[in-house]
Amino acid sequence: MAMSALQAVRSRAGAAPVELGIVLGSGLGHLAASVDGVAIPYGELPGFPRAAVSGHDPHLVIGMLEGRRVAVFGGRAHYYEAGDPAAMRMPIGLLQALGAGRLVLTNAAGSLRPDMAPGELMLLTDHINFSGRNPLIGEATDARFVNMVDAYDPAMRRALREAAAAEEIELREGVYAWYSGPSFETPAEIRALRVLGADAVGMSTVPEVILARFFGLRVAAVSTITNMAAGMSDEILSHDHTKAMAPLGAAKLERILRRFLRDDIGA
Ligand code: HPA
Repeated sequence: MAMSALQAVRSRAGAAPVELGIVLGSGLGHLAASVDGVAIPYGELPGFPRAAVSGHDPHLVIGMLEGRRVAVFGGRAHYYEAGDPAAMRMPIGLLQALGAGRLVLTNAAGSLRPDMAPGELMLLTDHINFSGRNPLIGEATDARFVNMVDAYDPAMRRALREAAAAEEIELREGVYAWYSGPSFETPAEIRALRVLGADAVGMSTVPEVILARFFGLRVAAVSTITNMAAGMSDEILSHDHTKAMAPLGAAKLERILRRFLRDDIGA
């Protein structure tokens, strides 16, 4: 399976190694259109997830962005789609096979901090796996015992902070909690997560970070805050609301990512 997706990509996009992968979250798909390269529908990549969530564009785009050869995933598979926490194993394994040493994940998230508002961006420093699920359950080798200290690569985080500063965009930092979804959290769960030390909550990213570390990729992640978490404001949470609010942060995030690619991706 892995070989055939790899062959499919190489026959369409050439064999030149990819430097970095980028996964685009809800409402953040715009960047894929800026890549000078080829867009391959997930359906043409054997073993790829169907990634059928509205607001995601299920294409893998391989080509040049700001002078670097990148692989941009226009959609991700979420645990809540089919109950498989390893749904992104194949795409992330493919990234490694394409030669990428780094992965940047983006997502839409709810804020748990009264001082972090919709439209703001948060660089992940760490995470809490509130779902209890793990994509490496069933992996039979000792490689499953992945060290998660500094899972969010310090050098990539520094480079992203510097890119944000150069663009004069505020980049908050905090801990992301993975909630399985697809229902939103209850207000009591949000109060619990705040006590536990989370700053933002969302339904993705954590399994991908675990998989990326398993494959030896260095990883960084940025949330665009689309709402205050359940019970923290009068907003009614919905997926339409998430998609409507994601563009607030998306333009800023795109500027940061372009600067990061241009200047320094964290040596
Ligand atoms: N909870 C979970 N996932 C989310 C949220 C939220 O409040 N906002 C965007 N994705």
